[in-house]
Amino acid sequence: MLQPTGRRLFSWAPALILPALVLLVAACSPDQYPQTTLDPRGDFAREGDHILRTTLLWATVVFVLVEGALLVAIVKFRDRPGAAEPPQTHGNTALEIVWTMIPAFILAMIAVPTVRTIFKTAVKPGPEALQIEVIGHQWWWEFRYPQLGITTASELHLPVGRTVNLEMTTADVIHSFWVPQFAGKRDVFPNRYNNLWFKAEVAGNFPGQCVEFCGAEHGRMGYRIVSEDSTSFDAWAKAFNTPPRDFSTDSTADPLVKQGQALFTAKACSGCHSMYPALPLAGPNLHHIGSRTYVAAGSLKNTDENLARWIKDPQGWMPGVLMPNLGLSDDEAKALVAYLRANK
Ligand code: CUA
Repeated sequence: MLQPTGRRLFSWAPALILPALVLLVAACSPDQYPQTTLDPRGDFAREGDHILRTTLLWATVVFVLVEGALLVAIVKFRDRPGAAEPPQTHGNTALEIVWTMIPAFILAMIAVPTVRTIFKTAVKPGPEALQIEVIGHQWWWEFRYPQLGITTASELHLPVGRTVNLEMTTADVIHSFWVPQFAGKRDVFPNRYNNLWFKAEVAGNFPGQCVEFCGAEHGRMGYRIVSEDSTSFDAWAKAFNTPPRDFSTDSTADPLVKQGQALFTAKACSGCHSMYPALPLAGPNLHHIGSRTYVAAGSLKNTDENLARWIKDPQGWMPGVLMPNLGLSDDEAKALVAYLRANK
């Protein structure tokens, strides 16, 4: 009784597998998986993608030929009752040479472009590239633009169509810088500089991630890449490169913002967080934090609720982070959020 049921199921299997595969492929859209490497948006990522596709192509050729030959052999040369022993080919020199040459050829077709790409992506770009220093911290990324006099954190602004050269290091432990749609991964080491270059081809807001386990909150050590056309980028750099607004002497300023600014000093936030464009302190630079898309190292969208949640309870969101819980009241948090929000 069992056998017919099993057979019927087996005959239906191909009809079920195809829709399942279609669904699986449809589920892998880049919208749902923003950290995909299969949707390159920069020249470096495109090189890597090309290698992946080349390798996949040759692997497919090998799979089809080998499995095809196997299936033919299984069916055509299967043993039949009373069949004579087939001719033996062990030690056939011509065959041995052929099946050594074919894999060697395929390996060469993969190795040559791979090695070429490794060398191509390891060079340093010329002085025309935009220089950016990247410094990993537990658990956030600092970005400095020496040519523009800018220090910022957690949001890396880039001009589309211009190569950027990242000189990368870390202030504490080993981290790894990864921006899936623009380039490959690069580890950062203390007292050592690694470089990474790429050119963004489209404007947008993309996620980046630390990809080396660097402590309890490694998983939330992200950042955003904001690529924009050169006009917007220049406008951002110009707006950024201004001293912070002093609301305390501004008679038109919202009283809540003034209260927030006073709290920023009174609660010693200013001891770790610089509000000046080119002044790095121990904590992330907060100049223009009001215009950032995310806060808390790219782990929370920059809304009033999230910002309040983060400054009230950083230890709840990122246990072990250097930023302490200050025991802020709701009103104090509201004032601080208003002040930070006004900095844009
Ligand atoms: Cu930094 Cu993981």
